[in-house]
Amino acid sequence: MIILDGKKTSNDIKNEITDTVQAMKDNGEKVPHLAAVIVGNDGASLTYVGSKVRACERVGFESTMVRMPNTTSETELLKEIKKLNDNPEIDGFIVQLPLPKQIDTQKVLMAVDPDKDVDGFHPTNFGRMALDMSTFIPATPFGILELLDRYGVDTQGKHTVVIGRSHIVGRPMSILMGRKGFPGNSTVTLTHSHTKNITQITSQADIIITALGVPGFLKAEMVKDDVVIIDVGITRVPDDSRERGYYITGDVDFENVSKKASYITPVPGGVGPMTIAMLLKNTLLARERHRAANR
Ligand code: GUN
Repeated sequence: MIILDGKKTSNDIKNEITDTVQAMKDNGEKVPHLAAVIVGNDGASLTYVGSKVRACERVGFESTMVRMPNTTSETELLKEIKKLNDNPEIDGFIVQLPLPKQIDTQKVLMAVDPDKDVDGFHPTNFGRMALDMSTFIPATPFGILELLDRYGVDTQGKHTVVIGRSHIVGRPMSILMGRKGFPGNSTVTLTHSHTKNITQITSQADIIITALGVPGFLKAEMVKDDVVIIDVGITRVPDDSRERGYYITGDVDFENVSKKASYITPVPGGVGPMTIAMLLKNTLLARERHRAANR
């Protein structure tokens, strides 16, 4: 069994990006600039955005955090997005999800300039991804592809089962694994809350990508020997014995499933760290595209 070490791999990627940024600086070029908009005070969202900003500093990017109160109206947020779209200093930006109830998420994601949409959530970029055109691939699916690639995990002709059809992970992952090329060329089954007899499906899978948010959902008796496991679940379980008051766990019964797996991602330290590294990679790509367009 081989651990797909997202912490180490994301560090390797950050080091590669640092070298590229240093070369940009040495050439007197503008360095990539990422902005993150966060609305409200959700603890997990603040932690994620804080990590994204710190990662920018580490690789030498410029970064801007835009904090808006929980009471922000849709109009106010759309105005802020227009400012970021129009600001030539900003290469890419994200609007951290989820947004407060009074704001229509679809409308907000549609307002982001697709050329600055480093989350890859705009329908233009999502459509380009589905058509194998150059685009920004959403960071979590992009991170999973990168892990499979760097560890040389064979995906061609394999049966990949994706659990969960979210717009951020499950849906894009199901498209990407079935695309022509590597990693890809898989036969994909996308399962969700209406899927009947899921064990019958998971027990035939060569690769399982689970993004449910249900701790311990995937058990050893649901998988076959030598399965590849990608666990995207991140749940905070309250635990008073820890200083933070919680611990993080995935969708997979790691202790037992890992005994049958050929490759497996741990939680934490698997897919999570990869997401931030790939957001940086998308921001670097945005800068390179803007430079080519003389912007
Ligand atoms: N919320 C959970 N994951 C993500 C992500 O990848 N991007 C944004 N913007 N919000 C998120």
